[in-house]
Amino acid sequence: MTGIRSHIAGIGTYLPARVMTNADMSEIVETSDTWIRERTGIAQRHIAADDEYTSDLAVEAARVAIAHAGKSIEDIDLIVVATATPDLTFPATATIVQNKLGIHHGAAFDVHAVCSGFLYALATADNFIKAGQATNALVIGAETFSRILDWTDRTTCVLFGDGAGAMVLSAQGEGEGLIRTHLRSDGQFCDLLYVDGGPSRTKTVGHLRMQGNQVFRHAVGKIAGSMQELADMAGIPISEIDWFVPHQANQRILEGVAKRLSIPVEKVISTVGRHGNTSAASIPLAFDAAVQDGRIKRGDLVLMEALGGGFTWGAALARY
Ligand code: UT7
Repeated sequence: MTGIRSHIAGIGTYLPARVMTNADMSEIVETSDTWIRERTGIAQRHIAADDEYTSDLAVEAARVAIAHAGKSIEDIDLIVVATATPDLTFPATATIVQNKLGIHHGAAFDVHAVCSGFLYALATADNFIKAGQATNALVIGAETFSRILDWTDRTTCVLFGDGAGAMVLSAQGEGEGLIRTHLRSDGQFCDLLYVDGGPSRTKTVGHLRMQGNQVFRHAVGKIAGSMQELADMAGIPISEIDWFVPHQANQRILEGVAKRLSIPVEKVISTVGRHGNTSAASIPLAFDAAVQDGRIKRGDLVLMEALGGGFTWGAALARY
C-alpha cells in the first residue's frame, strides 16, 4: 500500500440550466430572500429538468473531468458515485453512468453517505488505487435533491439544489495527490436528518426531514474536530493549508468552522450562495469553481470537509 498516491488528474462539474431564486421560493412557501440569505447565505439554486436524472448530471460532469485529466474512457477502471438520490433503487447509479459513458470494463458502484458522500467516495477510490486495484478512478458526487424535498416545508425546501461534480484520481508515485482522508459516522443522530421513505420500510421514496438547528449545533464542532485530527495525523498544521473546500450547507457553518480553527475566511471556498446545498456534489462543485477562477492552483494544499445524514462526517487533505 506504499509508494502510490492518488493524483487529482482532472475535475469537472455540471449544473442544470434552470435557476431558482429566493424570490421564486417565496412564491411557493412563506419565506423571504432576506430570511434565506441571512440564515444560510443562499441566493439561488439549480433545479434539474423533469427528464434529467442524477446519472445525466453525473455523466456531464464526468465527461468534463475525463477531458480535463487528459484521459479517455478506456483509461477509467473504477467509477464510484456518491449519491442519496439515485436514478432507481437499483441498479447503482454508477453502473448507469458507466453505460452512458460507453465504459464496459472495470467496476462501478455507489456509496451512500449523503452530504459526506463525496469524501466517502474519494476515500474509497483512493484506497482502491493505493491497493493497486484501480489506476484511473472516476469519483462523482451527483444529486437531484429537488426530487426528495417536501415543497410545502419552508424549513428544508429552500436549502437544497441539484448538481454534479467529478474528479479523476490517477495512480502515480509520491508527490501531488491525496495525502490522507478521515471518515467518521455515528448513527445515534440518524433521526436529525433523514428521508421518511424507502423501499423496505415504506415502499415509497419519501421526503427529506431535518431538525436544522440541531444539525447545525453538531456540524461546527464535528467538522472542526475531524479537520484538526486529519491535520494532526498528516503532520501538517492547519495554518499551512492554502484552501478549505467545505461541504456547502450553510454560510454560517462555513464561517463557524473557520473561526474555530482560526482560518482566514478568504481561504474558505464558498459557493453555497449560487448552488445551495447540493449534498454529495457540493465539494467538487466548490473545488472546481476555485480551480476555474484561478484561486486553487497545482501544488496547493487543499482541505475538504463535510457532515451529513447519519451522521457521517470527515475530511480529506490533498496537494492539488
Ligand atoms: O448538509 C447536511 C447538513 N445540513 C446542515 O448542516 C444544515 C444545518 N442547519 C441549518 O443550516 C440551519 O439550522 C437552518 C438554515 C436549517 C435554519 O436556521 P436556524 O437559524 O437554525 O433557524 P431555526 O430552524 O431555529 O428557525 C428559526 C425561525 C423559526 O421560526 P420561529 O419558530 O422562531 O417563529 C422557523 O419557523 O425561522 C423560521 N423559518 C423560516 N422563516 C422563513 C424556518 N425556515 C424558514 C424560511 N423562511 N425558509
